[in-house]
Amino acid sequence: MATTQEHDLIIIGAGPGGYVAAIRAAQLGMNVACVEEVSALGGTCLRIGCIPSKAMLESSQRFWEAREKLAVHGIQAGEVKLDLQTMLRRKDQIVNTLTRGVEALFKKNKITQYLGHGRLNGPGRVQVENSGQLNELKGKSILIATGSKPAGLPGVKLVGDKIGTSTEALSYGEVPGHLVVIGAGYIGLELGSVWRRLGSQVTMLEFLDRILPGMDAEIATEAKKIFEKQGLQFKLGCKVKSARVENDRCVVDIEGQDSVVSDRVLVAVGRVPNTDNLGLDSVGIELPKKGFIPVNEHFATSAEGVYAIGDVIVGPMLAHKAEEEGVACAEYLATGQGHVNYDTIAGVVYTEPEIASVGKSEEQLKELGTEYRKGTFPFRANARARTLNYLEGWVKILADARTDRILGVHILGPHAGDLINEAATAIAFGASSEDLARTCHVHPTLGEAMREAALAVAGRTINL
Ligand code: NAI
Repeated sequence: MATTQEHDLIIIGAGPGGYVAAIRAAQLGMNVACVEEVSALGGTCLRIGCIPSKAMLESSQRFWEAREKLAVHGIQAGEVKLDLQTMLRRKDQIVNTLTRGVEALFKKNKITQYLGHGRLNGPGRVQVENSGQLNELKGKSILIATGSKPAGLPGVKLVGDKIGTSTEALSYGEVPGHLVVIGAGYIGLELGSVWRRLGSQVTMLEFLDRILPGMDAEIATEAKKIFEKQGLQFKLGCKVKSARVENDRCVVDIEGQDSVVSDRVLVAVGRVPNTDNLGLDSVGIELPKKGFIPVNEHFATSAEGVYAIGDVIVGPMLAHKAEEEGVACAEYLATGQGHVNYDTIAGVVYTEPEIASVGKSEEQLKELGTEYRKGTFPFRANARARTLNYLEGWVKILADARTDRILGVHILGPHAGDLINEAATAIAFGASSEDLARTCHVHPTLGEAMREAALAVAGRTINL
């Protein structure tokens, strides 16, 4: 066993939660260590999640547009061919550049990096194991930021990239003839879209009677219609009983329906917190049934000096939520103050069109009994959307009927994921729909649709 190293803060996990917390804590003068078992830093998000999926979404969209959408601009592109290996290499290069960037940030901020599996080993202690070598660390505070992993499905045994998770679906070596996706949530829709655009037949099997549970229902219903036009096939209300590989084909058995045979299966039925072999019992932390580590409003667990953030605690499993919590936790440890405004944490599905949402949905407001006014504005009436030839979708703003304060914004449309940041800022500042409506928006931009939706709350849109 190597000699014991001492730090103010030891963070386990270098995903967006852990690495951002490490940088913030270092900025605030703490002596910080970060333990990560994978040599490339950045966690699921950078290595096998947000970033590679966005690279593939971008490339596949360009391929599809070159084939389907250029002629309308008067561009005859001739035969458009796919070079999948180059596309995959580009994605890997982006990932490499970004993970190396995190390494550089660690050096710049003098964060000590330990490669190996981190495990709590009694109060104030973390053991790092790397190929049988043990290293013992001592920390005044310990932050668990170990993220999440794909949820399994009873009856479905993963078989390489034949029946796999998002990790495999980001790197199929060839375009599957027929891809079955189990789960029409964030991952299913994004990766289903990628392979559909590249030429696969894609069948989405969803347990519920709608897609994207948790997102605004009206937006989800419209989005499904658009995805169907793009060729995604949906089977809703589907209970998958089992999946197996038979003679190199995948067979998915569904309760009360015919089995579906395909070339590959992507299981995307959610993610679960990653607490494997973390030594939680060594400090007396007990996990409830769903496996999330219980914390208080300062991210403190039941064990003194042990904190947790990100996917491993309750809440939406989003990189930027983990980052917010990482910053708040580091600030709390250094200054006694630290806060996350969960109402401003938006969710984005990077399909085409994108779907973005922040604050309360109509369903949630109804459930809460909050009276609200609603303003909508379609992109087909927005000049910039016309020039882009992206006319589908709309912006919806929900404002308190009494105070006019913005309670929720939901966007289906081009660059919705970028547009939603304005809505998050408005909510963070407690803005009313009138505030947005009275803010000059540049013409011609997609953002004008946001202003028009705000005007629509008071029934006075200009361009509709
Ligand atoms: P999800 O929770 O978004 O969707 C899972 C879907 O699977 C749901 O529609 C659910 O009803 C369905 N489902 C569950 N059990 C099923 C069954 N037995 N048969 C058929 N369908 C079933 O989870 P997903 O897509 O796996 O993503 C996991 C997490 O990763 C999400 O919490 C999401 O926040 C995050 N993520 C975020 C992204 C983004 O921000 N753009 C992209 C990808 C993932």
